[in-house]
Amino acid sequence: MRILQRISLVRYYYMTFKIGVIGAGGRGTLAKHAHRPDDGIRVTACCDLDPVILDQCRDWYGQEVLTTRDWREVLAAGVDAVVIATPDWLHEEHAVAALEQGLAVYLEKPMAITIAGCDRILRTAKQHQARLFVGHNMRYMTIIRKMKQLIDAGAIGKVKTIWCRHFISYGGDAYFRDWHADRECSTGLLLQKGAHDLDVMHWLADSYSRRVTAFGSLAVYGDLPRRTDPAIDKKDTSTWWNQAHWPPKALTGFNPVMDVEDQNLMLMQMENGVLGAYLQCHFAPDCCRNYTVIGDAGRLENIGDGPDDPIFVWNKRQDGYRTVGDAVFRGDPVDASSGHGGADAVIMREFVEFARHGGPTTATPEAARMSVAAGCQATASLRAGGVPLEVPAIDWEG
Ligand SMILES: NC(=O)c1ccc[n+]([C@@H]2O[C@H](COP(=O)([O-])OP(=O)(O)OC[C@H]3O[C@@H](n4cnc5c(N)ncnc54)[C@H](O)[C@@H]3O)[C@@H](O)[C@H]2O)c1
Repeated sequence: MRILQRISLVRYYYMTFKIGVIGAGGRGTLAKHAHRPDDGIRVTACCDLDPVILDQCRDWYGQEVLTTRDWREVLAAGVDAVVIATPDWLHEEHAVAALEQGLAVYLEKPMAITIAGCDRILRTAKQHQARLFVGHNMRYMTIIRKMKQLIDAGAIGKVKTIWCRHFISYGGDAYFRDWHADRECSTGLLLQKGAHDLDVMHWLADSYSRRVTAFGSLAVYGDLPRRTDPAIDKKDTSTWWNQAHWPPKALTGFNPVMDVEDQNLMLMQMENGVLGAYLQCHFAPDCCRNYTVIGDAGRLENIGDGPDDPIFVWNKRQDGYRTVGDAVFRGDPVDASSGHGGADAVIMREFVEFARHGGPTTATPEAARMSVAAGCQATASLRAGGVPLEVPAIDWEG
């Protein structure tokens, strides 16, 4: 019996791929997709400030999981990789410390809230030859993958312009009740929320923004009463994410600091000449990311962004508007229950594979940095009245 116990202890310590999680609640629950004890992969250490989450970690990952409020204890716990899903302004500090230790890192988007912060993370990964992966899970969504495949296969000729309209019905709930609303913590929603879309636009256009300009305003939520009583839970279900709250001005419980924009309009000029337009609204009645890509031989557009929603391609001329494309496509079937149209399970699988063996990945840290850089410069542009700004190249020297 003792021998069997020893063998299982040796297996646990030496043959298990161990993952730590910093910011284990909220988005950090994504790590559940990585926890596969039968395959020798375990989440063995979790950090969160919320004791309820730490209790839940024991249910999710087993009673033996180390739980702590101090993220440094996760890095000191002999893990092979770490998932960092803390709020945005903490990414740089947590990622740099983990990479300095040579750990493989899954870092949630946006990579950081400044361009300098991203470049420091990239340099640290390079210097310590550590494997860095940034959680741009939209690249793993079936509908986005299908659009990329169609474009790469020449369905609309050579891409010349790309527009994204992002309608967000839950903006007041998700982004104006906590740290997201405070530019010190997020820079702004053009970066915070937009990092996903800017990355997808760069990916579909096969280029990065070189120059950007933007306008934005705090048009709806700015006048509404802020939370003054700290005892009011921002996630009180009577006030939070409740579809009965309409119009947006019916929402309550806003963050005491609110200095980010609730509508953003951005134009981008990419390195390969493609022009982009990104329109984001946080007080829409419905919710969708709609990408329209026009090439020199056609137009492509997704109608809805769920895993089963259609992608239309128009590639015959007709001088009137056609609501349905000349061809209709859908993404490959996917396990939609895994979150973000099946993307979350897929991205975690790819991360674990990369963390263990290296190799190419669909999302890349350089692309993640470029989406932050475009979002930061666009935010600076809109706060300076819409002046066009260059997007700097990655600073590898420091
Ligand atoms: N890729 C996606 O689709 C996606 C979706 C949602 C959020 N995110 C990103 O994930 C990150 C977390 O977002 P969220 O909405 O889950 O945030 P959140 O505010 O819910 O925080 C996440 C968790 O981190 C914990 N935490 C906060 N400060 C901490 C600290 N100092 N040390 C340890 N734990 C701490 C919180 O208690 C919470 O459990 C953000 O960077 C966000 O942009 C990505």
